[in-house]
Amino acid sequence: MAKFEVLAKCHTTRARVSRLTLSHGITPLPTFMPVATQAAIKGLTAQQMESLGVTLILNNTYHLNLRPGVQILGEAGGAHKFQGWHKNLLTDSGGFQLVSLSKFTKITEQGALFESPFTGEPTMLTPEESMSIQHAIGGDIIMQLDDVVSSMTPDRARVEEAMERSVRWLDRCITYHNNSGKQTTQNLFAIVQGGLDSELRDRCLTQMIERKNDVAGFAIGGLSGGEEKDVFWRIVKQCAERLPDDRPRYCMGIGFAEDLLVCVALGVDMADCVFPTRTARFGVALTHRGPVNLRLAKYAYDFEPIDPDCPCPTCSAGTSRAMLYHVITRETAAAHAVTMHNIVFQARVMGGARDAILNGTFPDYLRTFFANYFADFG
Ligand code: GUN
Ligand code: ZN
Repeated sequence: MAKFEVLAKCHTTRARVSRLTLSHGITPLPTFMPVATQAAIKGLTAQQMESLGVTLILNNTYHLNLRPGVQILGEAGGAHKFQGWHKNLLTDSGGFQLVSLSKFTKITEQGALFESPFTGEPTMLTPEESMSIQHAIGGDIIMQLDDVVSSMTPDRARVEEAMERSVRWLDRCITYHNNSGKQTTQNLFAIVQGGLDSELRDRCLTQMIERKNDVAGFAIGGLSGGEEKDVFWRIVKQCAERLPDDRPRYCMGIGFAEDLLVCVALGVDMADCVFPTRTARFGVALTHRGPVNLRLAKYAYDFEPIDPDCPCPTCSAGTSRAMLYHVITRETAAAHAVTMHNIVFQARVMGGARDAILNGTFPDYLRTFFANYFADFG
């Protein structure tokens, strides 16, 4: 079972530093988890990820179930062995991807009904099936199947139905998981839903916290869908305040540095997003002075590295912005170089937060970060 120890708390915010010990090692929190949709991060090998110091990545159940599929993953001995990843792994349950990738997905009480992208056959992903697939993948943290509706949905009745159903599906996941024999090495997280409605969030929190002894952590779901920042922060604050202190809190789908730090200040310990790796492939490097779009003509003669202070392999080798400008759209090596940089940037933002919380200087860290990050906006 997971071991979760809080090591230090900030006195003025709800930020905290903790240590999460899972079957594949220790992950210090707060942490950002890079997303490896199809096993291995797009553009990087598992070895490269490990060499960057990353200790926890996310794989998607939906994608792994399609390719290579559970049979091959099972024969390989799970996703760790399959991809040569020796550190911790979290898998999402698949429902969110089903809904976000296909308009044809239909949610019933039984599960999520979708059209197989290979055969066109109607296929059902139930909470039990999601658990079974995640057991075959073998992630150290597995997520409950939840009923996710867009945070922009105006239909409160639908948001309420999805929230209540997510609680019922959590119970089905708990029952299946606790009878699987996998609960000693794999840790189930619940996902709080309820849209942008604080009353629905409260009801979800009450019911899910009642199941605390059967879950290793709690996620805040249903956000990052284009809602206003102040609404988003209010919901994160409300959830983080009520979730138990002795369980990690994971805000799903968050990846902008400014959002990560606000979430950390509100008491969030973990986050994931495709943003830093996806934006790298479009030539955008993340820096402490804000994102740098390397496709702009002004970088054609810029022979400095992305960030001279950055310890990533790309910057420490001295790879010039000009080289990245000239080849980013032509040569995958440039995308890999920026991907490594961006993963290290995210790790530095979170590592800096951990150090500052431990040193009692987190509010200063926030002030300095925001002053630099938005300096060029005037
Ligand atoms: N990824 C981003 N948001 C969500 C969510 O609400 N549920 C799940 N399962 N995955 C997510
Ligand atoms: Zn760098």
